[in-house]
Amino acid sequence: MGTRLVRYLAQCGVASRRGAADLVRQGVVSVNGEIATNVALSVEPTDQVAVRGKEVRPAARTTVLMLHKPAGVVCSRRDPHNPDTVIDLIPAELRPRLKPVGRLDKDTTGLLLLTDDGDLAFRLTHPRYGIEKTYVALVEGGVAPEEIEALREGVHLEEGWTAEAKVRILDEARDRTTLEIRIHEGRKRQVRRMCEKLGHRVVRLERTEFGPLKIGRLQPGASRELTPKETASLRQAVGLADELITTHDE
Ligand code: URA
Repeated sequence: MGTRLVRYLAQCGVASRRGAADLVRQGVVSVNGEIATNVALSVEPTDQVAVRGKEVRPAARTTVLMLHKPAGVVCSRRDPHNPDTVIDLIPAELRPRLKPVGRLDKDTTGLLLLTDDGDLAFRLTHPRYGIEKTYVALVEGGVAPEEIEALREGVHLEEGWTAEAKVRILDEARDRTTLEIRIHEGRKRQVRRMCEKLGHRVVRLERTEFGPLKIGRLQPGASRELTPKETASLRQAVGLADELITTHDE
């Protein structure tokens, strides 16, 4: 079944439907090389639609899922040593195509994204885009103000200094401290190693935020698709905002 030309143009991100209708009336839209004059013309996916001679195509429909990763499951797609993977926790129909965006350790809980949008996943994990991740870490011992300062300024790990971080104490109880740590790098076991370097073993670690997204009330083991607003803010955070976010309300 075909799609009406104005709708197709809107799906391509060329303009709103009204704007697309104006373009057709201006005679700058062609279908298979012929100037289109009828806004209600039906186009098929195989048709070549161009605006001012430049071919346009609708954005591919991609999925971004937020999972509340529980402890004890691994982030790899298949792991012979760990039969429980995050993929087992997502809806069966999405398993073949979604991949985790970065990793959380087996024992880390919290916000994990999975997507089939390779470009988005690349940008979300590449240090160049500096996406901030927020962790809540329960650590052993009391944490002194100079240790908080050291975590903020950078800790020397075996591969070098960590970048500046935002760190604050959320709670101090008996001989344990709850820290909120915001980092924009993604080194292996980074938060655990930063705390351990200062002599504080991490007892529990949860990622509560990823860029503009928050885990909210999503229960451990549960997953949901991002809302259009969340998807838009995530794409904006990595410089993909100028591309069309296809609306499904038309
Ligand atoms: N830092 C860690 O140490 N572990 C994680 O899973 C994520 C960040």
